[in-house]
Amino acid sequence: MYKEIEDLSEEQFARFAKLVYDRTNITLKEHKITLLSNRLRKRLRALELDDFDDYYRLLTGDAAGDEQLHFLEAVTTNETYFWRTTHNFDMLREDILPELVKEFRGEKLQLWSAGCSSGEEPYNIAIELTEGMKKSGVFSFQILATDISRHVVEFARAGRYSGRKIEKIPQPILHRYFRPVAERAGYFVVRDDIKEKIEFRLQNLFEEAGEAGRFHCIFCRNVMIYFDRKDQEQLVQRFFDALRPGGFLIVGHSESLFMMNTPFEFRHLPHGVAYFRPRSDGAPRDA
Ligand SMILES: C[S@@+](CC[C@H](N)C(=O)[O-])C[C@H]1O[C@@H](n2cnc3c(N)ncnc32)[C@H](O)[C@@H]1O
Repeated sequence: MYKEIEDLSEEQFARFAKLVYDRTNITLKEHKITLLSNRLRKRLRALELDDFDDYYRLLTGDAAGDEQLHFLEAVTTNETYFWRTTHNFDMLREDILPELVKEFRGEKLQLWSAGCSSGEEPYNIAIELTEGMKKSGVFSFQILATDISRHVVEFARAGRYSGRKIEKIPQPILHRYFRPVAERAGYFVVRDDIKEKIEFRLQNLFEEAGEAGRFHCIFCRNVMIYFDRKDQEQLVQRFFDALRPGGFLIVGHSESLFMMNTPFEFRHLPHGVAYFRPRSDGAPRDA
């Protein structure tokens, strides 16, 4: 029989919330006390502990080891699915891609899915880019997909999905870019040539990884909502630096750079708003 583990006290919550912030920059407000208690309780059960203070000591001591990663998995929200907020992908394919292909003719386009969770977003991007070749002509591309949670990164690499995660994918696309898993009904795996376009990496967005000036387009959707204003601005500046002049940032539907202190130019495109890193020479777009 399990011993009942009560919710975190306010004081315990404050200590764990600080630990979460120190390791992820995620800000947890007081009303998340039950949520955090439930998520950490699972770790306590797995470790056969019955006291949050013991768990805190483990995490902050020398013997934490892999538990650090389990902790990150427990405190992140990884909700995602294919064809989520489709206008972002329509904007990529119809509005941004033709511009990038024209501007960076002959170059391999580099994209970054920052906070990729279980991989649906970067695979979705790869599919849109491949579909976009019908109109924009053939080009090569590579996608870096990063997340702080090891579990989702490993899941993403496998590229195997079912149920709610794939239910919004139009049937012709599902059949073109996935193959059914023979031994498991209802499961589909992403085509190998699409998988090969994506490098999945375990990475904290707040740790510099030397990517300055590398990307033509960055997706960071439904990630910044977890950060406070100061950290959002820091991250947005990092994305600006990581983009090539002439590159684009796309954020989630409930996120905006409005009222932020940022060098990005707001571009109102037919399928939505994207943030543009102006060309350094200030040359007009069609010059
Ligand atoms: C809600 S999911 C968003 C997934 C996808 N971008 C989408 O919009 O469908 C947020 C992801 O951000 C990741 N995340 C949170 N803080 C992070 C950090 N500091 N560095 C990297 N990834 C982080 C979480 O692990 C989680 O998988």
